[in-house]
Amino acid sequence: MVSDLYRRLPHRSTLNRAALATAGAAALGIGYASLIERNAFTLREATMPVLAPGSATLRVLHISDLHMMPNQKLKQNWLRELDRLDPDLVVNTGDNLSHLKSVPAVVQSMGGLLARPGLFVFGSNDYFAPKPKNPLKYFKKEHRRVHGAPLPWADLRAAFTERGWLDVTHMHRELEVAGVRIDAAGVDDPHLKRDRYDTIAGPPNPLAQLKLGITHSPEPRVLDRFADDGYDLILAGHTHGGQLCLPFYGALVTNCQLDRSRVKGPSRWGAHTRLHVSAGIGTSPYAPARFCCRPEATLLTLVPAPREETRSGRGSAAVESAVLGR
Ligand SMILES: [Fe+2]
Repeated sequence: MVSDLYRRLPHRSTLNRAALATAGAAALGIGYASLIERNAFTLREATMPVLAPGSATLRVLHISDLHMMPNQKLKQNWLRELDRLDPDLVVNTGDNLSHLKSVPAVVQSMGGLLARPGLFVFGSNDYFAPKPKNPLKYFKKEHRRVHGAPLPWADLRAAFTERGWLDVTHMHRELEVAGVRIDAAGVDDPHLKRDRYDTIAGPPNPLAQLKLGITHSPEPRVLDRFADDGYDLILAGHTHGGQLCLPFYGALVTNCQLDRSRVKGPSRWGAHTRLHVSAGIGTSPYAPARFCCRPEATLLTLVPAPREETRSGRGSAAVESAVLGR
């Protein structure tokens, strides 16, 4: 069809051909990103040495950024299958909703996971519906937020907690899962500046074998507080892994103050603390495309840390964390 178009052109200049080729490549890229990669759900796996020495292994399913619409059956079916992984614990780092009527779709597709031990915090897309915005705004680290209509986050919270999941927003929760004693605490969404870390400040229970911090947006100011208090692992979402990435370069933006190198996957935050950022499962309905950044859930296998990395083995880890930089 493109070659017919060429023949009908009065002047087959190189410029015209180049413009047509560019437009064709762009159309193909947009089609691939919005129709194929956005629905190419994948499970990523990682092993993280964050538990106290001698602990049993703990399998944690980290899900984030569902951005669920009621009619997204592919996503719902894939979510339903995640229960087959048989995780010990599920952690949901927020942004579940994209529509006022999405709560039933989220709860039903996560039915099996909700029957397991679970922890959660909410993100901006649990509180407010998305609105169209200029994509160039993502390149500004601090841009004015555009909120849509209020979302039924309280209904979602009620559904999660009714099934036994624990909301860790500005709370410490102590639980034992698969023989591992956990002290978990979280903050409300730092992207909305709703984080009040002082409400959970202080060292977690030293007897816990996993000291777990949870936040929707991995804002460095929050990560620093968790690290300084001695948390072993911080789980976050929000970045969508950059969502539109370049081959051999990676994410263009993180949509927060986090550096691009930590936009998704495991990394360190200081001498002691490890960070895991999920690239998330969904997208805003107003930016329905992913490129070089498939939608994901992550199965984290948590294992004991080497003795020299544990806080008890290095009394001044908080100081080291500040000195070594990130
Ligand atoms: Fe999100």
